[in-house]
Amino acid sequence: MKFSIKNENPGKQRSDCVVVGIFETRVLTKAAKTLDKNANGYISGILNNGDMEGKAGSTLLLHNVPNTICRRVLLVGLGKKSELRDREYRNAVQAAFKAIHKTGASDAILFLTEDPVKNREITWKISHTVIMAMESVYRSDQLKSKHEDDKRHLRKIALSMTSRADSAVCEKALQWGLATAHGMNLTKDLGNLPPNVCTPTYLAELAKNMAKTYKLKATVLEQKDMEKLGMGSLLSVARGSSQPAKLIILEYWGRNKKEKPFVLVGKGVTFDTGGISLKPAAEMDEMKYDMCGAASVFGTITAIVQMRLPINVVGIIPATENMPGGNATKPGDIVTSMSGQTIEILNTDAEGRLILCDALTYAERYEPEVVIDIATLTGACVIALGHIASGLLSNDEELAMELLKASEQAADRAWRLPLWDDYQEQLRSNFADMANIGGRAAGTITASCFLSRFTKKYRWAHLDIAGTAWESGKKKGATGRPVPLLTQFLTTRAAKKGPIIKT
Ligand code: BES
Ligand code: MN
Ligand code: ZN
Repeated sequence: MKFSIKNENPGKQRSDCVVVGIFETRVLTKAAKTLDKNANGYISGILNNGDMEGKAGSTLLLHNVPNTICRRVLLVGLGKKSELRDREYRNAVQAAFKAIHKTGASDAILFLTEDPVKNREITWKISHTVIMAMESVYRSDQLKSKHEDDKRHLRKIALSMTSRADSAVCEKALQWGLATAHGMNLTKDLGNLPPNVCTPTYLAELAKNMAKTYKLKATVLEQKDMEKLGMGSLLSVARGSSQPAKLIILEYWGRNKKEKPFVLVGKGVTFDTGGISLKPAAEMDEMKYDMCGAASVFGTITAIVQMRLPINVVGIIPATENMPGGNATKPGDIVTSMSGQTIEILNTDAEGRLILCDALTYAERYEPEVVIDIATLTGACVIALGHIASGLLSNDEELAMELLKASEQAADRAWRLPLWDDYQEQLRSNFADMANIGGRAAGTITASCFLSRFTKKYRWAHLDIAGTAWESGKKKGATGRPVPLLTQFLTTRAAKKGPIIKT
């Protein structure tokens, strides 16, 4: 897909599709007015006939609009002008792409970026439009022997800016959106891959390839390396599998190496059967998505590298399968983590925290600025927040607030849950320093309480993406979340840090 920014008259576009907004009720936007005037009231006539009110997300396709040189005009409802916010804007743009894809248009010019969205700049509208355009054409059909018949011809999208003076910032917003979308695409591709392809070894190879392509540093720790480090908790999860576990480290140094890095830790369980505490059969295939935390780390690093963000970021990915077997960890087994703390494994299906805890201890060696872990950690999070918001828990107020702000800006929602010490009791064990489960009550919080025992040395936040990383049912597929949130957070931090200090 090719994107460009333009500052032009909607009536003079030699385009397959000119897209303009209509406010409720039957109020023309500036671009629509221009077309209407050229066409001697043709558009307002159609609206007055009652064909479109302008409700947010509605569309109406017109052909042969008088005095235009474009093939089609797409009217897109934006809702009430005074109520045009993020959500309405995004809905309208998504509806627009859906409608365009139903036509044979191979290029389109959108004037929606001109309409005022509450508290949002033109740059926000551009980057979000680019991301939504890319999302509208995403497919995961590499493994189908015949590519699905697909009517989508759209190849070129132009976005309108209101003033030429904005062109540098708009161009930057376009590139930013594109980089974010590329990161999300990688995250989706990895998530959607079948678990017989996307193994820990596959992820390790991917890291090495990314290192080559983007001049990053990739390190892969093997089983014996992890044994030496004392990662007894991580390794206990891999025992039932014939696929070797890997600890993958991917480093991007966009600034002076002396500056503390942001560390992203992603859960990389490439398939979660539950282990000896075996999961029920229904929908178990979806446990191929249990590596979406890892995928979001790869995706976020891709995005920030393409943006050349002046920031240091280290991705740490503990990768393993969770399988039953003769050697598998049993409920009741006690293991020693890299931190020295012992863990009684009461349920082998609570494996995410077991691999994350050792990765979080490993993160200490980077003396991180902050550590964020991303994990499809608990079914309880899906019950609490559904598929709308990711769960956010943190030991640092400021960091939590920053992440919430980034999540709003990125339209990649997160909601904070408490991490009060009162919940820690639920992890008590009679035989070890802690149990790996805390009962049915507050499952997302007790999982985070478990992790918090390994993150005392730095500012840390945890994102539980169990409900947001993929969609089930007919639209089954990875969402690419929370790459937008993480990318936004890192971008804001990079801007605060200012220009690169040369060594
Ligand atoms: N990967 C799952 C969490 C999960 C389940 C994510 C369903 C999305 C949908 C995780 O490893 C797990 O099994 N967690 C258990 C923890 C429990 C045993 C304390 C869960 O949530 O049931
Ligand atoms: Mn599990
Ligand atoms: Zn899991």
